[in-house]
Amino acid sequence: MREGGKIPDGVWTDVFLVADEETLADESIGPGKYYKVAPAMFNVFRKESKDMVRISTPLMRAIHPGDDAAAMPVPKEGKYARFDGEISFPLPRQFNEATEALEVAKAFPDQIRGKTVMITGVNVGGLGFTTAQAFASQSPAHVIIVGRTPEKLQASLDALRAEFPDVDFRSLQIELGIQKSVRVGAAEFLSWTDVPELNILVNNAGIMCVPERTITTDGIEITFATNHIGHWLLANLIMPKLIKASVSNPKGTTRVVNVSSGLTTGIRWSDINFEKANKDLPAVEQPPYELFRAFGYTDVEEKSYLPLDGYNRSKTANILFGVAANKMLYDKYGIVTMALHPGAIFTELSRNFSDKMTEALEVMMNNGVFSWRSQGAGAATSLVASLDPKLGVGIGEMVNGSDNYGAFMYDCQISDKAGPLAVSSEEADRLWKLSEELVKQEFNW
Ligand SMILES: NC(=O)c1ccc[n+]([C@@H]2O[C@H](COP(=O)([O-])OP(=O)(O)OC[C@H]3O[C@@H](n4cnc5c(N)ncnc54)[C@H](OP(=O)(O)O)[C@@H]3O)[C@@H](O)[C@H]2O)c1
Repeated sequence: MREGGKIPDGVWTDVFLVADEETLADESIGPGKYYKVAPAMFNVFRKESKDMVRISTPLMRAIHPGDDAAAMPVPKEGKYARFDGEISFPLPRQFNEATEALEVAKAFPDQIRGKTVMITGVNVGGLGFTTAQAFASQSPAHVIIVGRTPEKLQASLDALRAEFPDVDFRSLQIELGIQKSVRVGAAEFLSWTDVPELNILVNNAGIMCVPERTITTDGIEITFATNHIGHWLLANLIMPKLIKASVSNPKGTTRVVNVSSGLTTGIRWSDINFEKANKDLPAVEQPPYELFRAFGYTDVEEKSYLPLDGYNRSKTANILFGVAANKMLYDKYGIVTMALHPGAIFTELSRNFSDKMTEALEVMMNNGVFSWRSQGAGAATSLVASLDPKLGVGIGEMVNGSDNYGAFMYDCQISDKAGPLAVSSEEADRLWKLSEELVKQEFNW
């Protein structure tokens, strides 16, 4: 049994039973009718949304977990009972690929109210902005948005403040691809005495398909430097404020969420900066050539840098970061780190796509390989990963042969779609060490 929702004591309120569409599909729902619901399919909300039926407290007790399924009457309209406590139900499966971030935030108001959230990569029109909006809807104490372009940060701040005038929004300008900038930004955040702790960090910023192999001033391939190293360094530098939050909050509720992607492979250990031809790499490190051909790439064995490969490796690192972090930070502090694929959303992420890549994507879309989802649906899995209490237990487990079960999410659910090398404990330890070498600083928590 897990917590399904909370309603303040002594408050007269409508309570809603929510079932997913599949459950309700072949049943007729309405006042005075009966229907069947599997306990795993519902959750309790205070708010109205689609596919739900009003029920009273006694009826909820009547279908309390333990039954495989329960037939229950839907009460006549207007008959609601007083609810005076906390309700526990089995895990709901109410979130899916169509769920919007706002819906998730509204399902977990207590996880947000009065908390401090930091989100990287916030620009109006991107997933970071929608993520910030969703958090802001439930009265957080502070929402800190991180970005590299001052005008975009300001536009985001203006829009967020106009929509949520009671929330304290702040911005941090950080260029994640430059370690010095990350260190300056982290130091600034640590110096804010009126923001003593950080409850949730969403590492959302990202670049994709940088056309030419580019090495940063720190000597690291730019996609890996930005998407992984910058976030990993930022998280470690501001860890004292995450640890501070973890001390005064339930185990598993302080979170680091890494927005990864769907095409994860392994790390290019022997050639992190893409200097060797792919065919000269050890077999296990070579990219999946057919995949790249499908995306319009040619001579894939001969080339060293394929823009999409740079992205995939960095996104693999986003998952491994969590696997290693959980080993250090979960038992000791109760901090949970996990990664997710947000789905396909039309944003500025495609700004560097070649014509061939765009054509290949169009063909895939026409063939039903993927479809675009809304920004809200794209941000929803970040919200679930940040907030759902059920994800704060069983960290690092092996389930059905899958190592580090729960390290990766997709469509708002724990997913096994990350490759084995992206959730391997050994690979994760290796990446943590490599990251320490690349930033010339050790982080042992
Ligand atoms: N959209 C999708 O279909 C999709 C699919 C899978 C994964 N994702 C992941 O989702 C996340 C959000 O992407 P999005 O789709 O919302 O794309 P987006 O609109 O391009 O947003 C990316 C954000 O990251 C920021 N950023 C990039 N490089 C940075 C750097 N060096 N330092 C600081 N900030 C930096 C960008 O700032 P500027 O705009 O100022 O450059 C922007 O605010 C990314 O991690 C992406 O990999 C997206």
